[in-house]
Amino acid sequence: MKNDLLKHFAETFGDGEDAKVYFAPGRVNLIGEHTDYNGGHVFPCALTIGTYGVARKRKDRKLRFYSMNFDKLGITESELGDLKPYKEAGWTNYPKGVMWAFEMKGMQIPAGLDLLLYGNIPNGSGLSSSASVEVLTGYILKDFFGFDVSNQDLALIGQYAENHFNKVNCGIMDQFAIAMGRKDHAIFLDTADLSYEYAPIVLEGAKIVIASSNKKRGLGDSKYNERRSECETALAELQTVADIRSLGDLDEAAFESYQNVIKDDIRRKRAKHAVYENRRTIRAVEALKKNELVLFGELMNASHRSLRDDYEVTGIELDTLVEEAWKVDGVIGSRMTGAGFGGCTVSIVKEEAINNFIEKVGEAYREKIGYCADFYVVEIGDGPQVL
Ligand code: GLA
Repeated sequence: MKNDLLKHFAETFGDGEDAKVYFAPGRVNLIGEHTDYNGGHVFPCALTIGTYGVARKRKDRKLRFYSMNFDKLGITESELGDLKPYKEAGWTNYPKGVMWAFEMKGMQIPAGLDLLLYGNIPNGSGLSSSASVEVLTGYILKDFFGFDVSNQDLALIGQYAENHFNKVNCGIMDQFAIAMGRKDHAIFLDTADLSYEYAPIVLEGAKIVIASSNKKRGLGDSKYNERRSECETALAELQTVADIRSLGDLDEAAFESYQNVIKDDIRRKRAKHAVYENRRTIRAVEALKKNELVLFGELMNASHRSLRDDYEVTGIELDTLVEEAWKVDGVIGSRMTGAGFGGCTVSIVKEEAINNFIEKVGEAYREKIGYCADFYVVEIGDGPQVL
């Protein structure tokens, strides 16, 4: 892989001298969905699939970008003096956003670079390819120019770029999961204060299977922002009777006793999801620590029902994948993962049941939805690295 990438870099940019090869993973969230902007917990892990980058420093301030995934676009040129988002700049707005974010935080980038990317995260699957590119870029800048930033800082810089340069109002989960990834571990992160703990994922005889709905996200971003603001309004209503900083500060009983101050039924459902999902995530990690995988799976299933009925971010494609998965023997748990409205599901499936799972769920999906889903048996990998 490394030599192939270096060869591609040399072919693209004339020569491969002084180029280095890097990798940053994608991520999947096991449980704790739409809690990261509500001061709650999440439980994601980094994957062994992700984004490869070949980069080298330049003597001038030029930036040259090339993606093997979008090879038809050819080389996109820019320069450090023009770190602004342009619609026609496509994917290069992600690395440029991170360079801009470094400069906004007082770290001037002294020289331009040539960057070639290759990603093996399935396209549009919701496994955070953009956060992967962001963390990768930050990691390269740190390595090239010696900036004094930790991997956690790289996550925050990536999120800052996503929020303020690319104007996507995401939480911290994706960039954190990627920057802090650890092989065979998921990260139990409290988004209220960024305290975290690694939990080993020992699935004895089972694997994580991702099913991509292949549905384009479409209106996803605007719906995402709508959910965020519904939660913010519900929080403001709850704060008139409870001394809380976020929905993550409430447990189920407290929520039930205060919920009447939320004036609107829909908002009440949204807030209920955020509160219950947070508590479910805490319980799921406890279950995992006690090796109670069946309970962990049940909590994954409950998470999906809540995302379907109360948060309403699933849709027929994700519901079909999950509900068909629940029918298959050997499925320990299954739920949508990520923002929703398309993207993918995550299931824990006993090894001997995986082929049957892919066949049954795949068939039912094609019949009902009219096109195919894709399935990936994944492994949990490390964070960003030099190869
Ligand atoms: C997207 C966002 C994350 C998080 C999830 C939902 O992946 O980027 O910050 O909010 O949706 O859990």
